Amino acid sequence: MKIIEFNSHKEASEACAKVLISQIKSKPNSVLGLATGSTPIVIYQNLVEAYNKGEVDFNEVRSVNLDEYYGLSGNHNQSYRYFMQEHLFNKVNIKPSNTHLPNGTAQDVRKECSDYENLINDIGGIDVQLLGIGLNGHIGFNEPSDYFADKVHVEDLQQSTIEANSRLFDNIDEVPKRAFTMGIGTIMRAKKVILLADKNKIDIIDKVINSEVNPQIPASILKFHPDTTIYFSR
Ligand code: GLP
Repeated sequence: MKIIEFNSHKEASEACAKVLISQIKSKPNSVLGLATGSTPIVIYQNLVEAYNKGEVDFNEVRSVNLDEYYGLSGNHNQSYRYFMQEHLFNKVNIKPSNTHLPNGTAQDVRKECSDYENLINDIGGIDVQLLGIGLNGHIGFNEPSDYFADKVHVEDLQQSTIEANSRLFDNIDEVPKRAFTMGIGTIMRAKKVILLADKNKIDIIDKVINSEVNPQIPASILKFHPDTTIYFSR
């Protein structure tokens, strides 16, 4: 695992955007694993700017997102589908049929999980997976646990995650208590991983770096990934 430090969130975001852009240039039909949350917003702004300048073409790009709230439809303004449409998909020429997130309102939850895992494999696996990190070390929505979950599944969110994410909802009671998420194995099978973290995550990044690989710190598994870089801004 490599760590690169930056003086600002803007510089770290630009560096992550460059990785994604060069990935698309070298393989136009790349599979990008995408993330939501406050952290990646400037990366998406950079991608949109590059697209508007004609520097990158999303025509053949495929995307798979890490996670989606259980019970929220894609029209809900706090769903991750909605976030992706607002920040990226509506602003570039990616084909809607090439953008994938779990369906938060799927009736058959087990089928939705296995279908999403199979979809990722069927389109050739993830070329670059973008990650943020939760204050408790979660990646996607893989919360601290006694074991590393392999595949796409539904996770019960920890109270601290519900509280952290409630800032975006009108009321904490509206925050879903569960979410679909890629498993740790799904993420680890990505060919390349880039994780962006700002200074508010310094304590957990310090733990990821300095602790043993441990499912109580889900992101610590990335030390076993052959091509992971943390983009950290001070
Ligand atoms: C959410 C998402 C994660 C994200 C994390 C941090 O719960 N499931 O994918 O990395 O929280 O979010 P933020 O970037 O807003 O701090």
